Amino acid sequence: MHAFNFNPALAVAAVACLSALPTAHASLYAKDSPVVQVTAKNYDKLIKSNYTYVVEFYAPWCGHCKNLQPAYEKAARNLDGLAATVAAVNCDDDENKQLCGMMGVQGFPTLKTIRPGKNKGAPVIEDYNGPRTAKGIVDAVVDKINNHVKRLTDKDIESFLSTKNESAKAILFTEKGTTSTLLKSLAIDFLGVIPVAQVRNKEAKANQLFGIKSYPTLVLLPGGDKESLVYQGEMKKPAMLEFLSQVGEPNPDPATPKAQSKNKAGKKDKEKISKASQSSQSTDTPPAESKPALRELAPPIPAVTSQQDLTNECLNRKSPTCVLAFVPTAHDDGSETALASLSEIAFKHAQVQRHLFPFYEVHEESAASVFQDLGLTGKVQLVAVNAKRGWLRHYDGDFSALSVENWIDAIRMGEGAKEKLPEAVIGEVVEESETAETKPAETVEVKIEDSVEIEIESEPESTSWQGAEPTPEATEAPPKHEEL
Ligand SMILES: *[C@@H]1O[C@H](CO)[C@@H](O)[C@H](O)[C@H]1NC(C)=O
Ligand SMILES: *[C@@H]1O[C@H](CO)[C@@H](O)[C@H](O)[C@H]1NC(C)=O
Repeated sequence: MHAFNFNPALAVAAVACLSALPTAHASLYAKDSPVVQVTAKNYDKLIKSNYTYVVEFYAPWCGHCKNLQPAYEKAARNLDGLAATVAAVNCDDDENKQLCGMMGVQGFPTLKTIRPGKNKGAPVIEDYNGPRTAKGIVDAVVDKINNHVKRLTDKDIESFLSTKNESAKAILFTEKGTTSTLLKSLAIDFLGVIPVAQVRNKEAKANQLFGIKSYPTLVLLPGGDKESLVYQGEMKKPAMLEFLSQVGEPNPDPATPKAQSKNKAGKKDKEKISKASQSSQSTDTPPAESKPALRELAPPIPAVTSQQDLTNECLNRKSPTCVLAFVPTAHDDGSETALASLSEIAFKHAQVQRHLFPFYEVHEESAASVFQDLGLTGKVQLVAVNAKRGWLRHYDGDFSALSVENWIDAIRMGEGAKEKLPEAVIGEVVEESETAETKPAETVEVKIEDSVEIEIESEPESTSWQGAEPTPEATEAPPKHEEL
């Protein structure tokens, strides 16, 4: 009852009758709005970032959408500076119709949270059905910001310090057992640049090691034998970000309103919008450019970057059919085209929930012996393998989606020439737990779910970690000012 039920005929009628007005397709959100406007073009870039998003799918003519606008803009202001973005997609814009359809939008407004998943390019998308208030939205988004802050105890501080001794690290000493949104945001801004950890005051040894006397205290270790730096400023994001920037560049925010207004695509979109508003064309025919849109929306296929992973996924005696795209690690035009075609085909099948064998990008450099054993030469090579049945199929043709899809279809139908898969490429599966030991750096991440559990176990008095998050009044004072 809250959502305007989406009725294509009605939508067409509404658009048709409004199209006389020059503003019929105008966005609900002004250029200087804190709400970031997302289109089918930049959506892909958005989902591949490390930020958490709330996205409103709306139509400018929808009354509930207009009612939400002030609260939505307020939520955007309150989340400013955190690793979260409040975004909106105008589903009335021809260019975005397919995106809105794929996202299962059936009424306006539809709100969804999107956060990075474990695998790059596979974000976790959830419906937001909470209250349509700034506080409701802020709480939901804050709740979804991934936690990459490692919580250290006396036991593991040494190993944290000695891992990659030469690279910088940051530690917040705090009296709190929870991880603040501010620290989570800093950890995301410096993801892959500076690992961020926190240590509680009750960890006596760790606190002594750094001579910590007051809380909260942020310490920056520049790496190697360089002396540690103690942060003296206020516990506010911009100053803390600057402090940490002394030793490493933070990742850019992919969707700041600023970055977007600089974006040339943004200008083109506006031209399109105004062109669209001049025509009174019906809106239920798919736009002519539906093909390239599908290509842009498709998430990249997963990449396999070690020979062992390749064995685990596709080259052991139990592996079913896999399609492998061997490409150089540094992509060139040919590999980009081949990969885009594969992701488009995979995406297309996923849309209709048709089962298809997995596609993987394989870096030739990391699987050089397999590359050789399969008799491959050249820059980009597509093969299909089935190690269980011992066959191999080469692809030769251009890398357009059409041509590659014909080949894939032939494999699905069991047609086409097969060769024997060389024995040499088949290996033994090594379980992840075993490989994890050889890659300690990858186990450093603490996911939000883990920390929730830790919190509930170690602090039964606290209802949940959310207790530390903004209270109703705090929505007025944005969470960036929260105490650490
Ligand atoms: C996301 O984090 C990774 C490290 O895990 C980093 O290499 C990458 O640059 C970040 N991406 C963006 C868009 O900031
Ligand atoms: C890193 O190594 C240097 C020299 O080997 C040593 O002086 C320093 O204390 C080490 N730093 C940490 C944080 O372990």
